[in-house]
Amino acid sequence: MNIILASSEAVPFAKTGGLADVATSLSEALANLGHDVTLVLPHYPQVMPQGHNGRFKIQPYGHPFAVKIGKRLQTGRFLSAKMVETSLSVVLIDQPDYYDRPQLYLQDGTDYEDNCERFVFFSRAVVELARQFTTPPDIIHANDWQTGLVPVLVSEELRKDPRFAGVASVQTIHNINYQGRFWHWDMPLTGLDWKYFNWKQMEFYGELNLLKSGITFADMITTVSPTYAREIQTPEYGCGLETVLRNRRESLAGILNGVSHADWNPATDWLIESNYSLKSIDEGKPICKADLQETMKLPVRDDVPILGMISRMTDQKGFDLIIETSELLMKMDIQLVFLGTGDRRYETFLDDLADRYPDKVATYIGFSEEVAHKIEAGSDIFLMPSRFEPCGLNQMYSMIYGTVPIVHRVGGLADSVVNVTTSTLSAGTANGFSFDHYTGSAFIFTVQEALRVFEDKQTWQKIVQNGMSTDWTWKRSANQYVDVYQRALEKIRPTPASSEVSENPPSTTPPTTPVDVR
Ligand code: ADP
Ligand code: GLC
Repeated sequence: MNIILASSEAVPFAKTGGLADVATSLSEALANLGHDVTLVLPHYPQVMPQGHNGRFKIQPYGHPFAVKIGKRLQTGRFLSAKMVETSLSVVLIDQPDYYDRPQLYLQDGTDYEDNCERFVFFSRAVVELARQFTTPPDIIHANDWQTGLVPVLVSEELRKDPRFAGVASVQTIHNINYQGRFWHWDMPLTGLDWKYFNWKQMEFYGELNLLKSGITFADMITTVSPTYAREIQTPEYGCGLETVLRNRRESLAGILNGVSHADWNPATDWLIESNYSLKSIDEGKPICKADLQETMKLPVRDDVPILGMISRMTDQKGFDLIIETSELLMKMDIQLVFLGTGDRRYETFLDDLADRYPDKVATYIGFSEEVAHKIEAGSDIFLMPSRFEPCGLNQMYSMIYGTVPIVHRVGGLADSVVNVTTSTLSAGTANGFSFDHYTGSAFIFTVQEALRVFEDKQTWQKIVQNGMSTDWTWKRSANQYVDVYQRALEKIRPTPASSEVSENPPSTTPPTTPVDVR
């Protein structure tokens, strides 16, 4: 299959969260299955890693293009960024006015005012890239709200051109909490007729909603874990889109993310002090633990359990539980290490806690790939008490590094962490600790339970072993995406056996001429 995977971020080019890891590692996994994959993202020169030309070669690609943004024509160009170490093709959308900025989506805590325009442009550029392919792609895979317009453009513009009639779209929801909602006067930016601005398609409580648009028009929809796929169909987790999703549940699949073995593997990780595997963990991990304590300026003690946390500091991630239970945590003989950035409230609270308890708490407020790897390797326990969690990657990274996660049992955390009980221990499946009720008391009880088991070295070893010997790579999940792509294609290239009624509301006008502005 010929696949275009569009994402607003992807490692190693630009990252604010797990989407960046998944965009690249899924693309690579699909390419390894023999598919022709092009990963496309904006070109953010200011956030690209220093010295990147050693890792990927950037060259002009295809023809410069112009797309309609409202009444204007906006120009852009494609750059190819071939990664030296993989066979993956990466295309960057170059438009300095939109993307040459210090951060991806916001500055000083405020979203860029023209975010709608920036990502309408990106979505149109992705479709433009498809038009420039010699062989049309089979699938255009959109990720999150930033590319939510892509399925609309595929269905309502691209496919009207007979050469592209066989292109199917897939929309993946990585986090339904972020929907790309903009005031209705941004609708003309999309270049689409106002007829689409209705409650069944692109409108949501009077606003333009890009994620809803993607969900409505995509041939298939996925989200990043089976449990989250069920949760988002409920008012508790659906953030208002639960009915839209329930209406499309036949086309919704939950596929658990995988992990890139090349980036997250203690046996080869060059960012940690000592490499180790399951066989050599007893030698390697204590070295990483001491190194973490030194790096974070904590007393170097091998007997004290280190509880680590790496996270965007937002309400999603359970920091309110940490705050609520902090004084109880401070009574325990533990060390806490936090890496993250985001909400000032949480940053300040944790910095203050570290000031008050310098022997127990260390914080790194900021973004650091190196410290993230050191925490995964050097901690004994990883905290992920998220209020909700579509998939979550750090609990899987932790298990790979022999660090036992404590999680709130939701979303992908429920699908990857098997709580320690006598029966899961004897079944050889226990790999972490989880709690059901999102309360401080449930959280602290689980921490105490984990610390109690930590003292029982034999049992702890078994839990570590279960986590480390599970295959968290993309092998299984990448095949599930291929099945989803096939189902999407069957919908638009119906065979007598597989045809089914389209769920998209029928278009009331004859096919329009595609906006081809080249
Ligand atoms: P989310 O995408 O909701 O932030 P995930 O668990 O899926 O959560 O992925 C988060 C990713 O971002 C992980 O790779 C994690 O290591 C990384 N990360 C988050 N905050 C930081 C930070 N401050 N420094 C380095 N890496 C971070
Ligand atoms: C989102 C989710 C996270 C998920 C990531 C990658 O940012 O919050 O749970 O792991 O996307 O899919």
